[in-house]
Amino acid sequence: MSGTGPFTVAIDGPAAAGKGTISRAVAAEFGFAHLDTGLLYRAVGAATLAGEEAVAAARALDPAGFDEALLRTGPVAQAASRVAAMPEVRAALVDFQRAFARRHGGAVLDGRDIGTVICPEAEVKLFVTASDEVRARRRFLELSGKGHDVTEAGVLEDLRARDARDAGRDAAPLRPADDAVTLDTTRMDIGSAVAEAVARVAARRRAG
Ligand code: CDP
Repeated sequence: MSGTGPFTVAIDGPAAAGKGTISRAVAAEFGFAHLDTGLLYRAVGAATLAGEEAVAAARALDPAGFDEALLRTGPVAQAASRVAAMPEVRAALVDFQRAFARRHGGAVLDGRDIGTVICPEAEVKLFVTASDEVRARRRFLELSGKGHDVTEAGVLEDLRARDARDAGRDAAPLRPADDAVTLDTTRMDIGSAVAEAVARVAARRRAG
């Protein structure tokens, strides 16, 4: 069944938990559009590193012009989590994300506050997590595989700093929605995590 009305899959969780891989796979499986909302905050963070003011950068954001290779770097991730604590920055990004979430044909959004703030009415909410060490290992392999000069200890430190900032902020802190299903992927390979997420979405689709 592939209804044409809105159907939102909200995938939240801490840094490098596998949200992106799971989101892309769910979107491909059901023909839904996918929005990696972390890229929005990363783009604002990158703009501040280039000397721009955060709120003005958030208001002027153009997702069509993103340079993903730059946005995926460690310094940009840290800058993203600093600007993400600013309520005016978050407010500037809400309308775009909400419109995306409720578009016809279905949407998967991954981030920190999709199930709690952006789309509390999402049909499926997953909170994807894993131990700090496992997440650091995965992100280290991803970044070093792309030729970045990183160490596993440095990546672990970066994740912990961001998680603490993301969970401790007043504006839309990282936390599972009350009705989210937690998917702990510490001892799961990515294929099993994807299969579990797809099964949850399929069950909700059948339920109508
Ligand atoms: O890929 P990773 O999980 O490491 O991070 P990301 O999803 O690209 O998000 C980068 C940063 O943006 C996070 O550390 C958060 O501070 C912020 N973010 C947020 O506050 N709200 C979202 N919906 C998505 C990201």
